[in-house]
Amino acid sequence: MDFKLEVAKLIANAATLDLETIAEAIEIPPNPDLGDFAFPCFRLAKTLRKAPPIIAQEIKQNIEMPDFLASVEIAGAYINFFVKRDFYAEEVLRKIFEQGANFGRQNLGNGGCVVIDYSHPNMAKPFHVGHLRSTVIGHALYNIFNFLGYRSFSINYLGDWGTQFGKVIAAYENWGSKEEVDAGGIAELNRLYVKFHVEVEADKTLDEQARAWHMKMEQGDEYALALWHWFKEISMKEYAAIYRLFDIDFDSYQGESFYNDKMSPVVERLRESGLLTESDGAMIVELEEHKMPPCLILRSDGGTLYATRDITSVLHRKEAYNFVKALYVTSHEQILHFAQVFKVIELMGHDFELMHVPFGYMNLPGGKMSTRKGNVLLMQDLLDQTIDKIKGIIEEKNPDLKDKEVVAQQVGIGAVIFNDLYNSRIKDVEFSWERMLSFEGETGPYVQYTHARCCSVLNKAVGATALGRPFADANLGLLTDAAEFELIKILNGFPEKIAEAAEKYEPFIISRFVMQLAQAFNKFYRDNPILRAEEELKKARLHLTHCTKTVIAAALNLLGIKAPQEM
Ligand code: ARG
Repeated sequence: MDFKLEVAKLIANAATLDLETIAEAIEIPPNPDLGDFAFPCFRLAKTLRKAPPIIAQEIKQNIEMPDFLASVEIAGAYINFFVKRDFYAEEVLRKIFEQGANFGRQNLGNGGCVVIDYSHPNMAKPFHVGHLRSTVIGHALYNIFNFLGYRSFSINYLGDWGTQFGKVIAAYENWGSKEEVDAGGIAELNRLYVKFHVEVEADKTLDEQARAWHMKMEQGDEYALALWHWFKEISMKEYAAIYRLFDIDFDSYQGESFYNDKMSPVVERLRESGLLTESDGAMIVELEEHKMPPCLILRSDGGTLYATRDITSVLHRKEAYNFVKALYVTSHEQILHFAQVFKVIELMGHDFELMHVPFGYMNLPGGKMSTRKGNVLLMQDLLDQTIDKIKGIIEEKNPDLKDKEVVAQQVGIGAVIFNDLYNSRIKDVEFSWERMLSFEGETGPYVQYTHARCCSVLNKAVGATALGRPFADANLGLLTDAAEFELIKILNGFPEKIAEAAEKYEPFIISRFVMQLAQAFNKFYRDNPILRAEEELKKARLHLTHCTKTVIAAALNLLGIKAPQEM
């Protein structure tokens, strides 16, 4: 039963207003003294030509009290509805208990495909924080859309083509060796790349060498392509280690090179439709009318550009996956790029739902951690250090914990993800170990710890094997005190939060939700004995604990965070 909808129906029967308008206007007062639902009558004043408090009175008089309401009260222009707490507890907790990990699952998508382009690191270069953010945000959206009845499809659009490879090959030929690259991996490739940029200052012929190597790649030269393959393999192996830490896999790794042979028909179509114009030898799509600089399609030497590939990627993805939405998750630096690409697609006569999902920067601890000058910060090191620090904390708090390594990884990675997803994505993120690893602040470990606390309570009561089972018959109507009621209300809001997160492409709505849930549980836990309560009440509280545990795990799961049973 949807309480808000039921309240809306009552009002609809008592006033002449359509259900949808009412449902939208209904508020959930932050202060429970003002009701569990409130309906403001201001907006009716104009049409009914009466003062809002009078309208409120009249509607109230026409309302027939249903079973689930304890009272309806007027406060000024508001009609406040108070639900019967015992009824509410029964209803909500039964539902969560029955649906378990599927609570919140909805079919909003009807199986429509959502293609999500995320993570997309650049080969032969270190995986940097921008890629980390893209990975974390993209993966959460992937889970959220799947949960809502869409079919998510993830594409890791690897930066695996372009002039930079000409530079890496030229540098390798001049200063590199097989042994060093095998031993040093991406760091060595990056060292060569950086060295190229230093040396080219004094020796301009290097630029020509790089251009020649890139040209060879484009023409299919075997030796050049073999090097490129090798560099790509080395890079992929290192990225795979990071994806393993996050337990992420991609449905496709169609990188930039995948589009090499797919662009010329697209350029042809642009030409035929009269969108291409020449400018200094280059071919562009003029976007002045749309208040944007022109979109570059072909360089004067005929070479393609980043935008050429992305226009092609949109068309290819539509054809291959027939998406209902296509998302591109990158930093806000690419806002203009995607605005241009999407505009060109529109000018080509397509009406697709395309969405750029931009995010802000991440600031790393200490100035020394930069990727400049070959002083490479490997993401892997940063994550390893994070996990190590958690290991230290666990060693101190719970030295006897089983599977310490696994739990430390789950908590360390959870901390990184939660820290990334705790604010609207467009905001910059502060990477501060001290703050994000605290078990007490607004952190991933705090939420995971709350989940483990639920598990531990249940464990003590019924043993690990039977978690949840014995209290199916609990008298849930006993759960009416303020902390219990508050907790149940939050639990009931989960489905709506997921839908909102998808609608706004904002995983932080789930992070905030699960934080609120964890805090409410801990308040309940502080104020109400569970195991020491009398038998009936104990069962009911265990049931509530079980439901809390279930929903915390489900929410963390959407964010891509594990929920260990013990930590
Ligand atoms: N590899 C690019 C970068 O690191 C991001 C690619 C984003 N995806 C796309 N289809 N353009 O900046």
